[in-house]
Amino acid sequence: MAKSEFSDLIPRAKEILRRNDAGVFTKPGPRQYPHQWNWDSAVIALGLAQYDLPRALTEIRSLISGQWRDGMIPHVVYHLTPSDYFPDPTFWQIKNSPHAPPIATSGITQPPLLASMIRTIHARTPISDFIREVYPALLRWHRWLHTARDADQSGFACLIHPWESGTDDSPRWLEALAAITPIDVPPFRRGDTTHVAAAERPHHTDYERFVHLIDVFRRNRYDPPTLLSQSPFLVQDILFNSILYRADDDLRALALEIDQPTAEIDSWLDKMRANFDIRFWDEQQHLYFDYDARTQTSIPVNTAMTFAPLYAGIIDPHRAQLLIDEHWSNPAEYGRSGRVHYALTTVSKSESMWEARRYWRGPVWIVYNWLIVEGLKRYGYHDLADGLRHDSLTLIARSGFYEYYDPRDGSGCGSPDFSWPAALAIELLSHV
Ligand code: GLC
Repeated sequence: MAKSEFSDLIPRAKEILRRNDAGVFTKPGPRQYPHQWNWDSAVIALGLAQYDLPRALTEIRSLISGQWRDGMIPHVVYHLTPSDYFPDPTFWQIKNSPHAPPIATSGITQPPLLASMIRTIHARTPISDFIREVYPALLRWHRWLHTARDADQSGFACLIHPWESGTDDSPRWLEALAAITPIDVPPFRRGDTTHVAAAERPHHTDYERFVHLIDVFRRNRYDPPTLLSQSPFLVQDILFNSILYRADDDLRALALEIDQPTAEIDSWLDKMRANFDIRFWDEQQHLYFDYDARTQTSIPVNTAMTFAPLYAGIIDPHRAQLLIDEHWSNPAEYGRSGRVHYALTTVSKSESMWEARRYWRGPVWIVYNWLIVEGLKRYGYHDLADGLRHDSLTLIARSGFYEYYDPRDGSGCGSPDFSWPAALAIELLSHV
């Protein structure tokens, strides 16, 4: 790929990150998302580190400042108030939990990309002192995921809310959500549809359940064992656990870097590796499926998250090949076809709930493309990785820095001036 084809993207991307810079953290989007989000910040730090390392480290420190006393790093840290974002900080009522930190945060977590981003930054510009500073916080977060969120000793972290998955409105969660009866839902006013067309956002019935779940958590004061046994929503997500596996491996590398023991991390990695295919691989369809830990059944919805284990590097090459041959290249699922021209649609076109413009129901997300570019490279599919990288950069160059994109015509959806594609344009162009 000719770098020059996209050469004006880097200055444009830096300008977006500058505009979304709120001092000690970067807003994912200027209006829709005015606080600090966990996995957004990890990726933003990766982008910032390429040209302003001190600012990247500030981004990470700010995220860690929201860490709970029991180790959880929350999905949102509210440094600034007020805003019209719902839920506002008071809605979470985290002060009722003995684990809550002194600053305002949400009461749930998000995909643990942070250790991996720190390892990558360190590989490019050594930051050993910084690793020494943040390692204890990272270790405590990973330990919390492997204990407070391990419902069945399988080694996998369970999610208690779709927002923890980062793929909030994915059809993977629909059946589990439908089984929930939202009772006494506290009054709330959505902020998301103020800035973005309702047709590109979650349906009201799902949103009610999102709010109901938060209400269950706050009534139980965010006590981890109670939530594990009581949360009406309890799933093991292949994307989250793939990210966790790779992040554990990266945490292990950071530990070695600063002469820390690794036995505990090794035991997490061993357990996940031993159980991954048993839990998630579907031998009939040759797909990886998420798992509903509440009903103890597989969630047979064909989404692009089936490729997440490539990013983890946790599966054998034969299964990777099956994924590519039977699904990635299949025009009825993820391959190019008459109606879809840009990869990677987040849901298989063969699914009845596929929608080109609705949040996590089909649109292309650059953050997910980038994870899969990494995964494809890891398994030696360099041409496919190049193609996906090219699609990602083309979407950004043609439509701008959007939260997500319509895979049919490449038009932008959701929030404009988004930080993720800005940080990742820099990454994809600098590390070809
Ligand atoms: C949406 C996404 C989530 C992201 C957040 C901020 O909620 O689903 O993954 O972290 O926006 O960009």
